[in-house]
Amino acid sequence: MIRFDYNNFMEDSIGPEHGISRSDLEGVRGLAAEALNRMAREKAEGKLGFLEIPYDDAVARSIEKFRKSAAGAFSAIAVIGIGGSALGAQALRNALSHLYLNELDERRRRKRMKVYFFDNVDPFEIIAAADVIDVRETLFLVISKSGGTTETNANFAILLSMLKKKVGKNYREHVVAITDPEKGVLRKIAIEEGFATFPVPQNVGGRFSVLSAVGLLPAAFMGIDIGSMLAGARTAIERYYGMDLHRNAPLLGASFHYLFDRSKGKRINVLMPYTRKLFLIADWYRQLWAESLGKNRDIEGRPVISGLTPVPALGTIDQHSQLQLYLEGPNDKVISFLKLGDFGCDVEIPDFYPGVSEVDYISRKSLRGLNRFEEAATELVLKEASRPNASIILPRLDAGIIGELVILLEMQTAYAGYLYGINPYDQPAVEQGKQFTFGLLDRPGFERFKEQFERGSNKKDEYIL
Ligand code: PA5
Repeated sequence: MIRFDYNNFMEDSIGPEHGISRSDLEGVRGLAAEALNRMAREKAEGKLGFLEIPYDDAVARSIEKFRKSAAGAFSAIAVIGIGGSALGAQALRNALSHLYLNELDERRRRKRMKVYFFDNVDPFEIIAAADVIDVRETLFLVISKSGGTTETNANFAILLSMLKKKVGKNYREHVVAITDPEKGVLRKIAIEEGFATFPVPQNVGGRFSVLSAVGLLPAAFMGIDIGSMLAGARTAIERYYGMDLHRNAPLLGASFHYLFDRSKGKRINVLMPYTRKLFLIADWYRQLWAESLGKNRDIEGRPVISGLTPVPALGTIDQHSQLQLYLEGPNDKVISFLKLGDFGCDVEIPDFYPGVSEVDYISRKSLRGLNRFEEAATELVLKEASRPNASIILPRLDAGIIGELVILLEMQTAYAGYLYGINPYDQPAVEQGKQFTFGLLDRPGFERFKEQFERGSNKKDEYIL
């Protein structure tokens, strides 16, 4: 069971200037109750697919069946997607598979497949990948809820052409499309081509889709127990859904962030694990939080300023990087540690120059012990400097706990959106940039964006050195 320790958010611990009081929390209770009602209403209206997909065991079964049928034919998967269609699977790879999965020899990979991600528009990446990927042994998972994402389609086009050159007419057996069940050009192409397909339910937004086939299919190929992950997600829903503020960790987390923003001027939200296994969870959460909460209109269309800037950090590395700023720079951050109780592994530091007291003190200490002391020391110095910090504590690292964590962070993001009175499930501003790109690429119907771009991009040479 995941725990939430918010001692160092409270004024008892970090003082009244920067900490939250019990009466501040009481003050937000009405808004929190409205947030609970809105979640219940939207769920009843069938809008919150992210709370439904963990109950869909049929998808997990069909994924397992597909994985078994593909197991003998491929040694690698390539995920082609971007944003919510790629970040979740990357986080799951690090958290639950092997940090160096692709470098393991076949015996140590134990039927898990190598995995490559194509989630950027970057010739360096795709050229480098071409040097290491054997497309004849690779299954390409093209993932796009809308089907119309330029970056994804560009990468798919390049990889598909490579594939056709190597395997000829059998290329269709190497492609799986994960997309809207009915709409979109990817669905159309997949039907015409006869690609295998999996659906992204229509009521599940891209960044909330990691527990659908978007994350589950790559996870299954990486050897992750997707059934346990869904069971963990269900545990979290049953634990938090509809619960009153004081028993509801995601609602409480959202309320703290809201209060820190509105009454203490703290608009930066740091998520800091102390293991690389969890760092990409912080990266995934960055997108979830940023795209969901950065809005300038509330649901009634009135202007609002909503959104705290998410920052992923990694201990102990960031103790030698961002921590100086966190401790002595502006007190404008809310830090959440993502703590792991039982690492399930450890390494003893061997005797290191016995008698040389400047280094010998680490001899025979454990690496996990050192990690734990560094984490505890950072927590304490932040508290002493009146910097708000809390801990989300995972008892251990397994599929069930990660399923639980995904729901906790998704619900926290949704609740935060409700407290701000905005829609956490759309991304209107991102669409604007896409339209200019379509215009510049001469996509029919988008000519006016090209003209507007040309008018707007009149930079003055005198300001360029
Ligand atoms: O959360 C979102 O909706 C976005 O980040 C999308 O996931 C991203 O833009 C990719 O969209 P699509 O899956 O339609 O290609």
